[in-house]
Amino acid sequence: MKVLVTGGAGFIGSHVVDRCLADGHEVVVLDNFSTGRREFIRAPLQHPRTTLVEADVFIQPDRVTEAMQGCDLVFHLAANADVRFGLEHPRRDLEQNTIATFHVLEAMRAAGVNRIAFASTGSVYGEAAVIPTPEDAPFPVQTSLYATSKLAGEGLISSYCEGYGFQGYIFRFVSLLGERYSHGHVFDFLRKLRANPNRLDVLGDGHQKKSYLYVGDCMEAMFCALENATDPVNIFNLGTDEYVEVNDSIQCICDHLNLSPELVYAGGDRGWVGDNPFIFLDCQRIRSLGWAPTRSIRESIVSTVEYLMSESWLLEART
Ligand SMILES: NC(=O)c1ccc[n+]([C@@H]2O[C@H](COP(=O)([O-])OP(=O)(O)OC[C@H]3O[C@@H](n4cnc5c(N)ncnc54)[C@H](O)[C@@H]3O)[C@@H](O)[C@H]2O)c1
Repeated sequence: MKVLVTGGAGFIGSHVVDRCLADGHEVVVLDNFSTGRREFIRAPLQHPRTTLVEADVFIQPDRVTEAMQGCDLVFHLAANADVRFGLEHPRRDLEQNTIATFHVLEAMRAAGVNRIAFASTGSVYGEAAVIPTPEDAPFPVQTSLYATSKLAGEGLISSYCEGYGFQGYIFRFVSLLGERYSHGHVFDFLRKLRANPNRLDVLGDGHQKKSYLYVGDCMEAMFCALENATDPVNIFNLGTDEYVEVNDSIQCICDHLNLSPELVYAGGDRGWVGDNPFIFLDCQRIRSLGWAPTRSIRESIVSTVEYLMSESWLLEART
């Protein structure tokens, strides 16, 4: 099979690339390197079954169509993956997450490719009324431009499945952790602790409850769905059966680093406007296909800390 991975040089995309190569597939990595890292795909680029297309999904839709020739499946992961700063640039999520998804779908139509796997988010459930939240939860009020733009992307994919006979796999992830993790709360805390091990500024009151998933478990879940789910539109929550408070994460990180900083809370029950203080997904649907996570949240946090400490250039590189 030939697979195109948009965002293939990113945290999650580079794992998809590795997995496709390990399964014997041919891979086209398409990335504009806005947040992606050449270091993450150094090994795949040595592989004869990998091609790199340096292109922008939003600005260069024709390059995407060219890159897609002969592909059987598209993993669409390229996006503005930052949830927090949407209100500072309200057009960005619309362009990078919704219109870019439209460009990918149109490129697929032009190139005759009809199978797509899409990285959506558990944030589409907003402040969910049902927790743990199943895929068919009551249609939620949106609280962030990021989630809104992803939900619109989901809608486009479903419409292409209905209208053009595509098959879609929509994955609503909780936040992922693990190797090549390069943005998110563990990243922010580690960077702050490196700057000052005696004090840690925390957004909100520290009681926000979040679920996390190890990136390797996410790979297994996505490929399990691709192999076993056969509907035109297949929507899966991907997460663990547990959640932790931000304070628990901090404790885990500080214990591992042997630090006891003063914790200084910004206050309020959420980290930023639109932050959901409780994200916990019901993952029975993917579990019914035989998948189960192998790592607890605490194990994932520790392995992420270990990874970032051993790859400290990542902590230094991003602003
Ligand atoms: N990391 C998480 O916890 C998480 C949770 C839920 C959903 N997601 C989604 O998963 C996907 C991957 O996220 P990630 O954490 O790996 O983020 P990331 O920023 O590491 O990866 C995104 C990749 O897309 C590339 N990219 C961005 N805009 C592009 C464009 N216009 N054209 C071409 N390439 C472009 C970037 O260079 C990068 O390599 C995103 O769609 C994100 O919204 C991530």
